[in-house]
Amino acid sequence: MKKALVCGAGGFIGGHLVNRLKSEGYWVRGVDVKENEYGNTNADEFVIGDLRNPEVADEVITSDLDEIYQLAADMGGAGFVFTGTNDAAIMHNSVLCNLNVLEAAKNKGVKRIFYSSSACMYPEHNQMDPNNPKCSEESAYPANPDSEYGWEKLFSERLFLAYQKNHGIEARIARFHNIFGPMGTWDGGREKAPAAVCRKVAMAEDGGSIEIWGDGKQTRSFLIVDECVEGIRRLMSSDFSGPVNIGSEEMISLNDFAKMVIDISGKNLSINNIPGPLGVRGRNSDNHLITEKLGWAPSTPLRKGVEKTYDWISEQIQKKELEPVEA
Ligand code: NAD
Ligand code: GDD
Repeated sequence: MKKALVCGAGGFIGGHLVNRLKSEGYWVRGVDVKENEYGNTNADEFVIGDLRNPEVADEVITSDLDEIYQLAADMGGAGFVFTGTNDAAIMHNSVLCNLNVLEAAKNKGVKRIFYSSSACMYPEHNQMDPNNPKCSEESAYPANPDSEYGWEKLFSERLFLAYQKNHGIEARIARFHNIFGPMGTWDGGREKAPAAVCRKVAMAEDGGSIEIWGDGKQTRSFLIVDECVEGIRRLMSSDFSGPVNIGSEEMISLNDFAKMVIDISGKNLSINNIPGPLGVRGRNSDNHLITEKLGWAPSTPLRKGVEKTYDWISEQIQKKELEPVEA
C-alpha cells in the first residue's frame, strides 16, 4: 500500500485530495494547523501541527512515505492577497512551510513531492488585456507578478526545482488557476470570487442587487476542485516535472459570471459594480502544455461546477441561519 502525506489537509484542496488518495487505496497522513473546517477528510492519521516549525515537518515526514503533497500556505482570494496588508505574513509563513517540508523530505529520503504553485506568478504585463491574457508556462520570465503572493510562489517553484537538481527529490509542480467548489472557503474574507458571488446571490432578496468589485469586465477562468485533484494525481503519476497549468480555459468576465450565478438561482437580481481589490485585468489558463505532457486537460463546463457549488453554499447559509445564537 502506498503512503502519502498531505500538507494543508485541513484546507479546501487538501481535504478533497486526501479523500481522492484514500479512494485509490493509499494510506494517508494529513497535517495542518487546523482541522478541516467541513470535516472533509478521511485521513488515516491527522496531525495538528505548524509546518513553520521544522520539528513538526521532521515529525510528520517519515522515511516510509512514498509521496508528499505540499499545499500548506497562507492563502486567500483578492480580498486577502491583493490588499497588501497581509504581504509579510504570506511570504514569511508560506516560504517557511516549503523550506521545512523540503529539508525534511530530503533528510528522510522521500522520493517524490508535489507543490501547489499559482497562476499569480505570471507577469502582470501579460495580463492587462481582459480579452487576451497570456499565461503559457514559458511566459513566466522575465518575472513580474503583481502580488507578493505571486513572488513567493515563483521563488518556491525554484526552491522545489533546486532540491530536485541538487538532492534528487522528484518535484511535480502545478500552477493552479482559481479553484472552486463545495467545501471551499465561502465567507470570512479569504473567499475567492466564485464562492463570494454564490454567497451574495444566495443571500440576496429576489428583486434586489449584488455587489461585484471593479467594473466587472475583468476576466478569469475558474476550475472545479474535482478536476484540480484529477490533474494533481495525473501529474504526480507522470514523468513530467512541470511547472504546468492546472486550470480551465473557459474564460469569463466577472459580470457575466455573476449573471450565470443569478440565472442558476432563478432570482431576479441586478449587479452593482463597486470599488474593491482587483488583481490582474485578465487571466485564463493555457492548456497546451498539460495536454501535450499528460494527454489530458480539464473539460468540465464551468456552469456544471457552479451549480454544485451554489447548492452547497446555499445549504451552508441555511445551516448558519439555524445555528443557535449565544446568550
Ligand atoms: P486553503 O487555505 O483552504 O488550504 C491551505 C491550508 O494550509 C489551510 O488549511 C491552512 O490552515 C494550511 N496552513 C497554512 N499555514 C500552515 C502552517 N504553517 N502549517 C500547517 N498548515 C498550514 O487553500 P486551498 O485553496 O486549499 O489551496 C491549497 C494550495 O493551493 C495553497 O498552496 C494555495 O496557495 C494553492 N493555490 C490555490 C488556488 C485556489 O484557487 N484555491 C489557486 C492557486 C494556488
Ligand atoms: N474575492 C472576491 N470577492 N472577488 C471579487 C468579488 C468578491 O466579492 N467581486 C468581484 N471580484 C473580483 C476581484 O476583484 C478579482 O478581480 C476577481 O473577482 C477574481 O478575484 P478572486 O477570485 O478573489 O482572485 P483572483 O482570481 O484574482 O486570484 C485568485 O486565484 C489565484 C489563482 O488563479 C486568488 O485566490 C489567488 O490567491 C490565486 O493564486
